[in-house]
Amino acid sequence: MSKFKTIDDLDVAGKRVLVRADLNVPMKDGVPTDTTRIDRSVDTIKGLTDRGARVVLMTHFGRPKGKFVPEMSLKPVAEAMARALGAPVAFAADVIGDSAKATVAALKDGEVAMLENVRFHAEEEKNDPDFAKALASLGDVYVNDAFSTAHRAHASTEALARLLPAAAGRLMQAELEALGGALGNPQKPVAAVVGGAKVSTKMEVLGNLSQKVDMIIIGGGMANTFLFAQGHDVGASLCEKDMKDDALKIIADAKAKGCEIILPVDVVVAKEFAANAENKVVGIDAIPADMMALDIGPASIAEVEKRLASCKTLVWNGPFGAFEIAPFDKGTNAAAQAAARLTKEGKLLSVAGGGDTVAALSHAGASDDFSYISTAGGAFLEWIEGKTLPGVAALDQ
Ligand code: 3PG
Repeated sequence: MSKFKTIDDLDVAGKRVLVRADLNVPMKDGVPTDTTRIDRSVDTIKGLTDRGARVVLMTHFGRPKGKFVPEMSLKPVAEAMARALGAPVAFAADVIGDSAKATVAALKDGEVAMLENVRFHAEEEKNDPDFAKALASLGDVYVNDAFSTAHRAHASTEALARLLPAAAGRLMQAELEALGGALGNPQKPVAAVVGGAKVSTKMEVLGNLSQKVDMIIIGGGMANTFLFAQGHDVGASLCEKDMKDDALKIIADAKAKGCEIILPVDVVVAKEFAANAENKVVGIDAIPADMMALDIGPASIAEVEKRLASCKTLVWNGPFGAFEIAPFDKGTNAAAQAAARLTKEGKLLSVAGGGDTVAALSHAGASDDFSYISTAGGAFLEWIEGKTLPGVAALDQ
Protein backbone atom coordinates (compact mmCIF):
# COMPACT_ATOMS: atom_id res chain seq x y z
CA MET A 1 0.00 0.00 0.00
CA SER A 2 1.25 3.40 -0.88
CA LYS A 3 2.44 5.79 1.76
CA PHE A 4 1.41 9.31 1.00
CA LYS A 5 0.68 12.57 2.77
CA THR A 6 -2.90 13.75 3.03
CA ILE A 7 -4.26 17.28 3.14
CA ASP A 8 -4.17 17.06 6.94
CA ASP A 9 -0.36 17.01 6.72
CA LEU A 10 -0.19 20.24 4.71
CA ASP A 11 0.04 23.78 5.98
CA VAL A 12 -2.38 25.51 3.62
CA ALA A 13 -3.50 28.75 5.30
CA GLY A 14 -2.99 31.64 2.88
CA LYS A 15 -1.32 29.28 0.38
CA ARG A 16 -2.21 28.67 -3.27
CA VAL A 17 -3.17 24.99 -3.39
CA LEU A 18 -3.22 23.40 -6.84
CA VAL A 19 -5.82 20.63 -6.72
CA ARG A 20 -5.84 18.08 -9.56
CA ALA A 21 -9.39 16.76 -9.58
CA ASP A 22 -11.08 14.50 -12.14
CA LEU A 23 -14.13 16.47 -13.20
CA ASN A 24 -14.47 14.59 -16.47
CA VAL A 25 -18.24 14.22 -16.09
CA PRO A 26 -20.87 13.18 -18.63
CA MET A 27 -22.34 16.25 -20.30
CA LYS A 28 -25.38 16.89 -22.49
CA ASP A 29 -26.21 20.25 -24.06
CA GLY A 30 -23.65 22.00 -21.87
CA VAL A 31 -24.97 20.60 -18.57
CA PRO A 32 -23.39 17.77 -16.53
CA THR A 33 -25.80 14.80 -16.51
CA ASP A 34 -24.10 13.10 -13.60
CA THR A 35 -22.32 15.20 -10.96
CA THR A 36 -20.88 12.34 -8.90
CA ARG A 37 -17.26 13.32 -9.57
CA ILE A 38 -18.03 16.98 -8.82
CA ASP A 39 -19.89 16.14 -5.60
CA ARG A 40 -17.19 13.78 -4.40
CA SER A 41 -14.51 16.48 -4.87
CA VAL A 42 -16.27 18.90 -2.54
CA ASP A 43 -14.89 17.36 0.64
CA THR A 44 -11.29 18.05 -0.39
CA ILE A 45 -12.00 21.57 -1.59
CA LYS A 46 -13.90 22.52 1.57
CA GLY A 47 -11.27 20.79 3.71
CA LEU A 48 -8.78 23.27 2.19
CA THR A 49 -10.84 26.48 1.94
CA ASP A 50 -12.07 26.06 5.53
CA ARG A 51 -8.43 26.33 6.55
CA GLY A 52 -7.85 29.51 4.53
CA ALA A 53 -6.35 27.96 1.39
CA ARG A 54 -6.69 29.59 -2.04
CA VAL A 55 -7.78 26.61 -4.11
CA VAL A 56 -6.88 26.38 -7.79
CA LEU A 57 -8.71 23.48 -9.48
CA MET A 58 -7.21 21.68 -12.46
CA THR A 59 -8.84 18.91 -14.45
CA HIS A 60 -9.12 17.46 -17.94
CA PHE A 61 -12.37 17.05 -19.80
CA GLY A 62 -12.80 14.68 -22.74
CA ARG A 63 -9.98 14.02 -25.19
CA PRO A 64 -9.36 17.31 -27.09
CA LYS A 65 -5.92 16.07 -28.20
CA GLY A 66 -3.92 19.19 -27.36
CA LYS A 67 -6.19 21.72 -29.07
CA PHE A 68 -8.75 24.24 -27.86
CA VAL A 69 -12.15 22.64 -28.47
CA PRO A 70 -14.99 24.98 -27.39
CA GLU A 71 -17.38 22.07 -26.59
CA MET A 72 -14.77 20.74 -24.17
CA SER A 73 -14.44 23.96 -22.20
CA LEU A 74 -14.74 23.53 -18.44
CA LYS A 75 -16.92 26.62 -18.01
CA PRO A 76 -20.12 24.56 -17.39
CA VAL A 77 -18.20 22.34 -14.97
CA ALA A 78 -17.00 25.42 -13.04
CA GLU A 79 -20.62 26.55 -12.79
CA ALA A 80 -21.72 23.11 -11.57
CA MET A 81 -18.86 23.14 -9.05
CA ALA A 82 -19.98 26.54 -7.75
CA ARG A 83 -23.47 25.08 -7.21
CA ALA A 84 -22.03 22.05 -5.41
CA LEU A 85 -19.83 24.23 -3.16
CA GLY A 86 -22.45 26.92 -2.61
CA ALA A 87 -19.66 29.43 -3.33
CA PRO A 88 -18.32 31.26 -6.39
CA VAL A 89 -15.70 29.58 -8.59
CA ALA A 90 -13.57 32.03 -10.62
CA PHE A 91 -12.73 30.73 -14.10
CA ALA A 92 -9.49 31.17 -16.05
CA ALA A 93 -9.71 30.97 -19.85
CA ASP A 94 -6.45 29.01 -20.04
CA VAL A 95 -4.46 26.61 -17.86
CA ILE A 96 -1.23 28.60 -17.98
CA GLY A 97 -0.34 32.08 -19.22
CA ASP A 98 -1.78 35.48 -18.35
CA SER A 99 -5.43 34.53 -17.72
CA ALA A 100 -4.41 31.74 -15.34
CA LYS A 101 -1.88 33.96 -13.53
CA ALA A 102 -4.35 36.82 -13.16
CA THR A 103 -7.17 34.55 -11.94
CA VAL A 104 -4.94 32.93 -9.33
CA ALA A 105 -3.45 36.27 -8.24
CA ALA A 106 -6.96 37.64 -7.62
CA LEU A 107 -7.89 34.80 -5.22
CA LYS A 108 -8.32 35.63 -1.55
CA ASP A 109 -7.96 33.16 1.33
CA GLY A 110 -10.79 30.60 1.27
CA GLU A 111 -11.69 31.25 -2.39
CA VAL A 112 -11.75 28.84 -5.33
CA ALA A 113 -10.76 29.14 -9.00
CA MET A 114 -10.83 26.65 -11.86
CA LEU A 115 -8.38 26.60 -14.77
CA GLU A 116 -9.46 25.68 -18.32
CA ASN A 117 -9.07 22.09 -19.60
CA VAL A 118 -5.46 20.89 -19.05
CA ARG A 119 -5.71 18.73 -22.19
CA PHE A 120 -6.03 21.83 -24.41
CA HIS A 121 -2.22 21.72 -24.25
CA ALA A 122 -0.56 18.73 -25.93
CA GLU A 123 2.22 18.93 -23.31
CA GLU A 124 -0.19 17.66 -20.63
CA GLU A 125 -0.44 14.12 -22.01
CA LYS A 126 3.30 14.12 -22.79
CA ASN A 127 4.06 14.70 -19.10
CA ASP A 128 6.15 17.64 -20.32
CA PRO A 129 8.49 19.04 -17.62
CA ASP A 130 8.25 22.68 -18.79
CA PHE A 131 4.47 22.56 -18.87
CA ALA A 132 4.53 21.04 -15.38
CA LYS A 133 6.81 23.90 -14.26
CA ALA A 134 4.36 26.46 -15.67
CA LEU A 135 1.57 24.76 -13.71
CA ALA A 136 3.72 24.60 -10.58
CA SER A 137 4.30 28.39 -10.76
CA LEU A 138 0.56 28.82 -10.05
CA GLY A 139 0.69 27.09 -6.67
CA ASP A 140 2.62 26.67 -3.43
CA VAL A 141 1.45 23.11 -2.73
CA TYR A 142 -0.12 20.34 -4.82
CA VAL A 143 -3.01 18.02 -3.99
CA ASN A 144 -3.95 15.12 -6.24
CA ASP A 145 -7.58 14.10 -5.78
CA ALA A 146 -7.96 12.47 -9.20
CA PHE A 147 -7.79 8.74 -8.46
CA SER A 148 -9.75 8.10 -11.64
CA THR A 149 -6.97 9.72 -13.73
CA ALA A 150 -4.10 8.27 -11.69
CA HIS A 151 -3.40 5.63 -14.36
CA ARG A 152 -2.23 8.44 -16.67
CA ALA A 153 1.34 9.74 -16.32
CA HIS A 154 0.43 13.28 -17.39
CA ALA A 155 1.97 16.62 -16.37
CA SER A 156 -0.87 17.52 -13.98
CA THR A 157 -0.97 14.05 -12.40
CA GLU A 158 2.69 13.01 -12.36
CA ALA A 159 5.43 15.58 -13.12
CA LEU A 160 3.73 18.28 -11.06
CA ALA A 161 3.67 16.09 -7.95
CA ARG A 162 7.47 16.09 -8.01
CA LEU A 163 7.78 19.88 -8.19
CA LEU A 164 5.75 20.98 -5.17
CA PRO A 165 5.02 19.60 -1.68
CA ALA A 166 2.37 17.02 -2.58
CA ALA A 167 -0.48 15.21 -0.86
CA ALA A 168 -3.50 13.07 -1.67
CA GLY A 169 -6.93 14.69 -1.53
CA ARG A 170 -9.77 13.17 0.47
CA LEU A 171 -11.32 11.38 -2.52
CA MET A 172 -7.98 9.91 -3.64
CA GLN A 173 -7.43 8.79 -0.03
CA ALA A 174 -10.95 7.34 0.27
CA GLU A 175 -10.63 5.41 -3.00
CA LEU A 176 -7.25 3.93 -2.07
CA GLU A 177 -8.37 3.04 1.44
CA ALA A 178 -11.68 1.53 0.29
CA LEU A 179 -10.13 -0.52 -2.51
CA GLY A 180 -7.20 -1.59 -0.33
CA GLY A 181 -9.56 -2.54 2.51
CA ALA A 182 -11.96 -4.46 0.28
CA LEU A 183 -9.61 -6.05 -2.19
CA GLY A 184 -6.14 -5.92 -0.65
CA ASN A 185 -6.66 -9.36 0.84
CA PRO A 186 -10.03 -10.45 -0.52
CA GLN A 187 -12.10 -13.32 0.81
CA LYS A 188 -12.31 -16.11 -1.77
CA PRO A 189 -13.89 -17.08 -4.07
CA VAL A 190 -13.47 -13.79 -5.93
CA ALA A 191 -15.57 -13.10 -9.03
CA ALA A 192 -14.99 -10.37 -11.59
CA VAL A 193 -17.79 -9.21 -13.86
CA VAL A 194 -16.33 -7.66 -16.99
CA GLY A 195 -18.69 -6.41 -19.65
CA GLY A 196 -19.34 -3.43 -21.88
CA ALA A 197 -18.37 -2.58 -25.41
CA LYS A 198 -14.69 -1.55 -25.14
CA VAL A 199 -13.40 -5.04 -25.91
CA SER A 200 -9.88 -4.40 -27.16
CA THR A 201 -9.03 -1.97 -24.36
CA LYS A 202 -10.09 -4.50 -21.73
CA MET A 203 -8.36 -7.58 -23.17
CA GLU A 204 -5.14 -7.01 -21.24
CA VAL A 205 -7.16 -6.41 -18.09
CA LEU A 206 -8.92 -9.75 -18.57
CA GLY A 207 -5.62 -11.55 -19.03
CA ASN A 208 -4.25 -10.09 -15.80
CA LEU A 209 -7.48 -10.61 -13.87
CA SER A 210 -7.59 -14.26 -14.85
CA GLN A 211 -4.39 -14.72 -12.86
CA LYS A 212 -5.91 -13.14 -9.75
CA VAL A 213 -9.57 -14.09 -9.42
CA ASP A 214 -11.45 -17.40 -9.25
CA MET A 215 -13.96 -16.64 -11.97
CA ILE A 216 -14.59 -14.03 -14.62
CA ILE A 217 -18.18 -13.53 -15.72
CA ILE A 218 -18.10 -11.96 -19.16
CA GLY A 219 -21.00 -9.95 -20.57
CA GLY A 220 -21.81 -7.29 -23.15
CA GLY A 221 -19.92 -6.92 -26.44
CA MET A 222 -16.98 -8.58 -24.74
CA ALA A 223 -18.92 -11.86 -24.52
CA ASN A 224 -19.66 -11.85 -28.27
CA THR A 225 -15.94 -11.68 -29.05
CA PHE A 226 -15.30 -14.69 -26.80
CA LEU A 227 -18.25 -16.64 -28.23
CA PHE A 228 -16.99 -15.91 -31.75
CA ALA A 229 -13.49 -17.05 -30.77
CA GLN A 230 -15.02 -20.34 -29.58
CA GLY A 231 -16.59 -20.89 -33.00
CA HIS A 232 -20.13 -19.55 -32.44
CA ASP A 233 -21.72 -17.47 -35.19
CA VAL A 234 -22.63 -14.15 -33.54
CA GLY A 235 -24.56 -12.73 -36.51
CA ALA A 236 -24.63 -8.92 -36.59
CA SER A 237 -23.56 -8.59 -32.93
CA LEU A 238 -20.90 -6.15 -31.80
CA CYS A 239 -17.75 -8.26 -31.94
CA GLU A 240 -14.04 -7.60 -32.41
CA LYS A 241 -13.17 -10.53 -34.65
CA ASP A 242 -9.46 -9.65 -34.83
CA MET A 243 -9.30 -10.27 -31.07
CA LYS A 244 -10.05 -13.97 -31.58
CA ASP A 245 -6.55 -15.22 -30.77
CA ASP A 246 -6.29 -12.94 -27.73
CA ALA A 247 -9.61 -14.29 -26.45
CA LEU A 248 -8.51 -17.91 -26.92
CA LYS A 249 -5.24 -17.20 -25.11
CA ILE A 250 -7.11 -15.65 -22.19
CA ILE A 251 -9.36 -18.72 -21.98
CA ALA A 252 -6.32 -21.04 -22.03
CA ASP A 253 -4.32 -19.00 -19.49
CA ALA A 254 -7.33 -18.74 -17.20
CA LYS A 255 -7.87 -22.50 -17.36
CA ALA A 256 -4.22 -23.14 -16.52
CA LYS A 257 -4.56 -20.93 -13.45
CA GLY A 258 -7.87 -22.48 -12.34
CA CYS A 259 -9.93 -19.38 -13.14
CA GLU A 260 -13.32 -20.15 -14.65
CA ILE A 261 -14.53 -18.02 -17.56
CA ILE A 262 -18.32 -17.80 -17.55
CA LEU A 263 -19.92 -16.86 -20.86
CA PRO A 264 -23.62 -16.50 -21.77
CA VAL A 265 -25.48 -19.64 -22.85
CA ASP A 266 -28.38 -17.68 -24.36
CA VAL A 267 -28.86 -14.11 -25.56
CA VAL A 268 -31.63 -11.65 -26.45
CA VAL A 269 -31.33 -10.68 -30.11
CA ALA A 270 -32.85 -7.86 -32.17
CA LYS A 271 -32.44 -6.45 -35.67
CA GLU A 272 -31.94 -2.88 -34.50
CA PHE A 273 -30.28 -1.14 -31.57
CA ALA A 274 -33.37 0.71 -30.35
CA ALA A 275 -35.61 0.81 -27.30
CA ASN A 276 -38.38 -1.80 -27.51
CA ALA A 277 -37.02 -3.21 -30.77
CA GLU A 278 -38.67 -6.53 -31.65
CA ASN A 279 -36.57 -9.23 -30.00
CA LYS A 280 -36.33 -12.90 -29.06
CA VAL A 281 -34.28 -15.21 -26.87
CA VAL A 282 -32.00 -17.66 -28.66
CA GLY A 283 -29.26 -20.08 -27.66
CA ILE A 284 -25.71 -19.00 -28.52
CA ASP A 285 -25.69 -21.44 -31.43
CA ALA A 286 -28.81 -19.95 -33.01
CA ILE A 287 -28.05 -16.23 -33.44
CA PRO A 288 -29.59 -15.26 -36.82
CA ALA A 289 -27.16 -13.67 -39.32
CA ASP A 290 -29.10 -10.38 -39.45
CA MET A 291 -29.64 -10.00 -35.69
CA MET A 292 -27.45 -8.81 -32.84
CA ALA A 293 -27.17 -9.90 -29.23
CA LEU A 294 -28.19 -6.97 -27.02
CA ASP A 295 -28.52 -8.72 -23.67
CA ILE A 296 -27.98 -12.06 -21.97
CA GLY A 297 -30.95 -14.43 -21.86
CA PRO A 298 -32.86 -15.94 -18.90
CA ALA A 299 -30.72 -19.10 -18.64
CA SER A 300 -27.57 -16.95 -18.52
CA ILE A 301 -29.15 -14.67 -15.90
CA ALA A 302 -29.92 -17.71 -13.73
CA GLU A 303 -26.33 -18.92 -14.12
CA VAL A 304 -24.89 -15.49 -13.20
CA GLU A 305 -27.13 -15.33 -10.12
CA LYS A 306 -26.00 -18.80 -9.08
CA ARG A 307 -22.33 -17.91 -9.57
CA LEU A 308 -22.63 -14.66 -7.61
CA ALA A 309 -24.23 -16.56 -4.74
CA SER A 310 -21.21 -18.87 -4.67
CA CYS A 311 -18.70 -16.00 -4.20
CA LYS A 312 -17.53 -13.92 -1.27
CA THR A 313 -16.04 -10.98 -3.19
CA LEU A 314 -17.13 -9.31 -6.43
CA VAL A 315 -15.47 -6.67 -8.59
CA TRP A 316 -17.64 -5.32 -11.38
CA ASN A 317 -16.83 -3.26 -14.46
CA GLY A 318 -19.11 -3.11 -17.50
CA PRO A 319 -22.77 -3.94 -18.15
CA PHE A 320 -24.17 -7.25 -19.50
CA GLY A 321 -26.10 -5.67 -22.35
CA ALA A 322 -27.50 -2.47 -23.81
CA PHE A 323 -28.81 -1.43 -20.40
CA GLU A 324 -29.67 2.10 -21.62
CA ILE A 325 -32.51 0.77 -23.80
CA ALA A 326 -35.34 -1.36 -22.42
CA PRO A 327 -35.93 -4.26 -22.50
CA PHE A 328 -32.22 -4.96 -23.04
CA ASP A 329 -31.46 -3.88 -19.47
CA LYS A 330 -32.88 -7.08 -17.93
CA GLY A 331 -29.62 -9.02 -17.62
CA THR A 332 -27.70 -6.10 -16.09
CA ASN A 333 -30.60 -5.26 -13.77
CA ALA A 334 -30.99 -8.84 -12.56
CA ALA A 335 -27.27 -9.34 -11.93
CA ALA A 336 -26.91 -5.95 -10.20
CA GLN A 337 -29.92 -6.61 -8.00
CA ALA A 338 -28.63 -10.08 -7.11
CA ALA A 339 -25.23 -8.65 -6.11
CA ALA A 340 -26.92 -5.86 -4.11
CA ARG A 341 -29.17 -8.38 -2.30
CA LEU A 342 -26.27 -10.68 -1.44
CA THR A 343 -24.27 -7.69 -0.18
CA LYS A 344 -27.17 -6.52 1.98
CA GLU A 345 -27.48 -10.01 3.43
CA GLY A 346 -23.78 -9.82 4.41
CA LYS A 347 -22.83 -12.69 2.07
CA LEU A 348 -20.88 -10.72 -0.52
CA LEU A 349 -18.46 -7.81 -0.59
CA SER A 350 -19.17 -5.94 -3.82
CA VAL A 351 -17.03 -3.25 -5.41
CA ALA A 352 -17.83 -1.57 -8.73
CA GLY A 353 -16.24 1.11 -10.88
CA GLY A 354 -16.52 2.78 -14.28
CA GLY A 355 -18.84 5.41 -15.74
CA ASP A 356 -21.16 2.98 -17.52
CA THR A 357 -21.17 0.61 -14.58
CA VAL A 358 -22.11 3.29 -12.09
CA ALA A 359 -24.93 4.41 -14.42
CA ALA A 360 -26.06 0.79 -14.90
CA LEU A 361 -26.11 0.04 -11.17
CA SER A 362 -28.04 3.18 -10.45
CA HIS A 363 -30.48 2.34 -13.30
CA ALA A 364 -30.97 -1.06 -11.62
CA GLY A 365 -31.59 0.64 -8.26
CA ALA A 366 -28.67 -1.34 -6.85
CA SER A 367 -26.03 1.34 -6.11
CA ASP A 368 -26.93 1.97 -2.48
CA ASP A 369 -26.40 -1.65 -1.49
CA PHE A 370 -23.00 -2.19 -3.11
CA SER A 371 -20.13 -2.20 -0.59
CA TYR A 372 -18.18 0.45 -2.49
CA ILE A 373 -18.53 2.29 -5.80
CA SER A 374 -15.42 3.89 -7.23
CA THR A 375 -15.46 7.09 -9.31
CA ALA A 376 -12.82 5.46 -11.50
CA GLY A 377 -13.10 3.26 -14.59
CA GLY A 378 -9.73 2.60 -16.25
CA ALA A 379 -7.78 3.43 -13.08
CA PHE A 380 -10.04 1.10 -11.06
CA LEU A 381 -9.29 -1.81 -13.39
CA GLU A 382 -5.55 -1.12 -13.43
CA TRP A 383 -5.51 -0.92 -9.63
CA ILE A 384 -7.30 -4.29 -9.42
CA GLU A 385 -4.80 -5.77 -11.87
CA GLY A 386 -2.10 -4.76 -9.39
CA LYS A 387 -0.48 -2.19 -11.66
CA THR A 388 1.34 0.83 -10.26
CA LEU A 389 -0.68 3.97 -10.96
CA PRO A 390 1.75 6.78 -11.87
CA GLY A 391 -0.41 9.44 -10.19
CA VAL A 392 -0.38 7.48 -6.93
CA ALA A 393 3.30 6.54 -7.19
CA ALA A 394 4.25 10.21 -7.60
CA LEU A 395 2.65 10.91 -4.20
CA ASP A 396 4.67 8.18 -2.48
CA GLN A 397 6.98 9.39 0.23
C1 3PG B 1 -12.07 8.58 -16.92
O1 3PG B 1 -13.14 9.12 -17.21
O2 3PG B 1 -11.92 7.35 -16.82
C2 3PG B 1 -10.92 9.48 -16.59
O3 3PG B 1 -11.34 10.80 -16.51
C3 3PG B 1 -9.77 9.30 -17.55
O4 3PG B 1 -10.10 9.75 -18.82
P1 3PG B 1 -9.25 9.26 -20.08
O5 3PG B 1 -9.56 7.80 -20.29
O6 3PG B 1 -9.67 10.14 -21.24
O7 3PG B 1 -7.79 9.45 -19.74
